[in-house]
Amino acid sequence: MRVKVQKGKLSQFKCDAAVVCHFEGAKKLTGAASRVDQASGGLIREVLQSGDFEGKKGQIAVVYTRGSIPARRVLLLGLGKKAEFNLEKLRRAFSRAAQRARELNLKGFAASVDFGDLGQAPGRLAEALVEGVILGLYHFLPHKTAEKEGRGKMGELVIVEEREKVFGEVREAAKRGQIVSGAVYFARDLVSTPSNEMTPTILTRKAKEAVRNKKIRLNVLNIKGMKKAGMNALLGVARGSHEPAKFMILRYEGAPKKGRPVVIVGKGITFDSGGISLKPAEKMDEMKADMSGGAVVLGVFKAVSELRLPVNLVGLIPATENLPGGGAYKPGDVLRSLSGKTIEIISTDAEGRLLLADALTYAGRFNPAAIVDIATLTGACVIALGEDVIGMLGTDEKLKSRIRAAAEETGEKLWELPLWEDYAELIKSDVADFKNTGGRAGGAITAAVFLSKFVGKYPWVHLDIAGPAWRKAGKPYIPKGASGIGVRLLVQFLSNRATGNKK
Ligand code: BES
Ligand code: MN
Ligand code: ZN
Repeated sequence: MRVKVQKGKLSQFKCDAAVVCHFEGAKKLTGAASRVDQASGGLIREVLQSGDFEGKKGQIAVVYTRGSIPARRVLLLGLGKKAEFNLEKLRRAFSRAAQRARELNLKGFAASVDFGDLGQAPGRLAEALVEGVILGLYHFLPHKTAEKEGRGKMGELVIVEEREKVFGEVREAAKRGQIVSGAVYFARDLVSTPSNEMTPTILTRKAKEAVRNKKIRLNVLNIKGMKKAGMNALLGVARGSHEPAKFMILRYEGAPKKGRPVVIVGKGITFDSGGISLKPAEKMDEMKADMSGGAVVLGVFKAVSELRLPVNLVGLIPATENLPGGGAYKPGDVLRSLSGKTIEIISTDAEGRLLLADALTYAGRFNPAAIVDIATLTGACVIALGEDVIGMLGTDEKLKSRIRAAAEETGEKLWELPLWEDYAELIKSDVADFKNTGGRAGGAITAAVFLSKFVGKYPWVHLDIAGPAWRKAGKPYIPKGASGIGVRLLVQFLSNRATGNKK
């Protein structure tokens, strides 16, 4: 998608369609909408008077201008009640507008971020608008042989800005929105790709391609390196598959060298069959998305380096398949993790926490200021919070509140679950230091309590994205399938850190 910010008036701008907005119940048209209305001799007022359009959120009217202004059409967009306005509403509204424009086979459209006085910086509006448009148009078509044609292109978004003094701000913000959306696309593509085309080896190759020409260093441990390090929990999971496991270490230094880094860790199970504790066949196909956390980490690195954020960042992605091959690890096995702590395997389907245990221990080598892991870890989290919500558990109140603040800004739903130490009882083993499952009840919590045993003394937050990583149904700017959830959240979190907006 080309995104341009141009000086000028939307009412005088030649394009396939000019998108303007209206608030439900508002007496008057505001901002660019009112100027488009005036220039066109009352085109929009006529639609409002007809009663066909009230400005309800999600409502769109397509109006033909018949030469009254240079734009061929006006896409009139409802934003809902003004008192309830927020950036999330804007993302949603503009994603719908973009989808409608694609249905209409438009090559592009123009819009303005002057919606009247909303008490929001024009830059924030522009960023949200761009995100809504780009993210809403995502689709994954490489395996469709016939269906590609017939889908419109919608290849251009122009933001027309007539206010001299906010022009620079709007242009910067549009660029940011484009970069961040590109990173979300990148993560969604990795997740959408089926596991026969997204093995740990291929994921590693994608990572190498992504860091090329960027200020990111990528180190990859192969099985030999992992053995040498002692990552036997990760290696245990990897034994059931012929596909070799990989452990990726990414580093980005945007701040002075001595600044302690944030380490982000992403679960990279490219397919989770459950292993010997085999999953039921139903929906097992969705387990190609079990590397969503790893994809998020790669997406975040892409965005952070393109945005040149002044932060130091380390990314760790343990990647393997979880399959029941002849060499597979088995219930009852005991694995000695990188930390030296031993783990009795109760279910080979609780594999994510094993990879993460070793990665979290490894994170300590960087003396991090904070550790954030992101993983499609437990079905229990989906049962607890529903499919839309990221489960958050962690040890550090400050870190948690910063992550929560970032989620509020990006519109990603997140809710905290308690990390009660009492639940450690449930993962006590008779034969080893811990067992890898704590039973069905409170499964998202016992999983996080298990992880906490491998974190060390660093501020740490765990994000369980088992629900929202893969969407069964589409939402306005998250078409069904891979959501890329977590990319915007972590980029926002890091960018808040960088600007000292630490709340
Ligand atoms: N990858 C799954 C969790 C998952 C479930 C992700 C549904 C996305 C949607 C994870 O490896 C897993 O299998 N967890 C088990 C843990 C149990 C055996 C303690 C689960 O949630 O059932
Ligand atoms: Mn599993
Ligand atoms: Zn899994």
